[in-house]
Amino acid sequence: MKILSLELKNFRNYRRASVSFADGLNVLYGENASGKTNMLESVYFSSVFSSPRTTKDKEMVLMGEEVANVKLVIEKKYRKHTINIQIDAQGKKKVAVDGVPVSRAGELLGVLGVVFFSPDEMKLVKESPGERRRFLDIGLSQQQKNYFVALSRYNHTLKQKNNLLKEYRQASNVDEMLDVWDAGLAKEGATIVARRKEYIATLNDAAKKFHFILSGEKETLSLSYESGANTDCPAEELEKNLLSALRASREKDKELGYSTVGPHRDDIKIEINGKDARKYASQGQQRTTALAMKIGQVVIYRDELGEAPVLLLDDVLSELDENRQHVLLDLVGGFQTLLTCTEYKLNNPATLFEVNDGNIKPR
Ligand SMILES: Nc1ncnc2c1ncn2[C@@H]1O[C@H](COP(=O)(O)OP(=O)(O)O)[C@@H](O)[C@H]1O
Ligand SMILES: [Mg+2]
Repeated sequence: MKILSLELKNFRNYRRASVSFADGLNVLYGENASGKTNMLESVYFSSVFSSPRTTKDKEMVLMGEEVANVKLVIEKKYRKHTINIQIDAQGKKKVAVDGVPVSRAGELLGVLGVVFFSPDEMKLVKESPGERRRFLDIGLSQQQKNYFVALSRYNHTLKQKNNLLKEYRQASNVDEMLDVWDAGLAKEGATIVARRKEYIATLNDAAKKFHFILSGEKETLSLSYESGANTDCPAEELEKNLLSALRASREKDKELGYSTVGPHRDDIKIEINGKDARKYASQGQQRTTALAMKIGQVVIYRDELGEAPVLLLDDVLSELDENRQHVLLDLVGGFQTLLTCTEYKLNNPATLFEVNDGNIKPR
């Protein structure tokens, strides 16, 4: 799929901007703080319904203004869609797709597919498991509505269960209530874990290949699912196994006041040449690993949905040596990509746009 045009009104440092993107590589270049990342953020928001860099939506409204608007026209295999976003200074957000209001992220998630990469995404490798679950959850939710539904239900039930564990663990009927929540968690959890395992198995093949290339054919990346429950089993047994794990940790969970086992605690195990990258990866390895995982995500999306998502690459070239810059641009050659940099010096064919103090114009 591709983005045909983007219009911004009072979004971050853009008072008004309008731009048409081309197929393939679109390069947005300009000085620091000119608004390059802001533009990618507006696209990401139109896909995922949240910003990749803030949880405070109101920060996206141009300072002193009441509302920000983003309008995207995209072209998919069978038809065009228009996405309209409105965010107000209180952080209230509204979305419409083809003029029809959409009230939940779940409905927006399947419209425009994006994969976002910035130097900050290196945290995928070494930071807390939450980052890696987010990677899985966003990737899977963009591809499968059922996944998003199971995840939403799971999180809702988990919140109720944790509330019970925290506030009412002394209550006489606490075990009966926990039985109810645990049954729900095991059921939705089994769907979540089954999908994540499939996804990681496919991602492992793709990311391994890209990592091998990006590492100068020196390193072997390996990804697998890691869980506190026994998830090394056929999908039909997941629910039963999750339930046993929940039962086994019940007394401990009551003691601690929160639920310590389940997909909300799981992780992706990342190994490079057999060593745990989450502990030992160097800066360079973190970069190539995160990048390989993200490009893997693009490829899986394309293979499973029959069209590629749009790739958003924020400031990645400056982090790579020239050889790897070429390798990367060759790898992403077939996808519509929006790439930001301060200066574009490569000779890979690209459509160039200059970003300057909240303005964008084609060069
Ligand atoms: N809500 C806002 N209103 C006005 N300006 C903003 C807002 N949020 C960020 N900015 C400005 O946007 C600029 C940063 O834009 P950014 O896209 O991150 O730059 P870069 O081109 O380096 O990626 C800064 O000048 C910042 O002050
Ligand atoms: Mg930036």
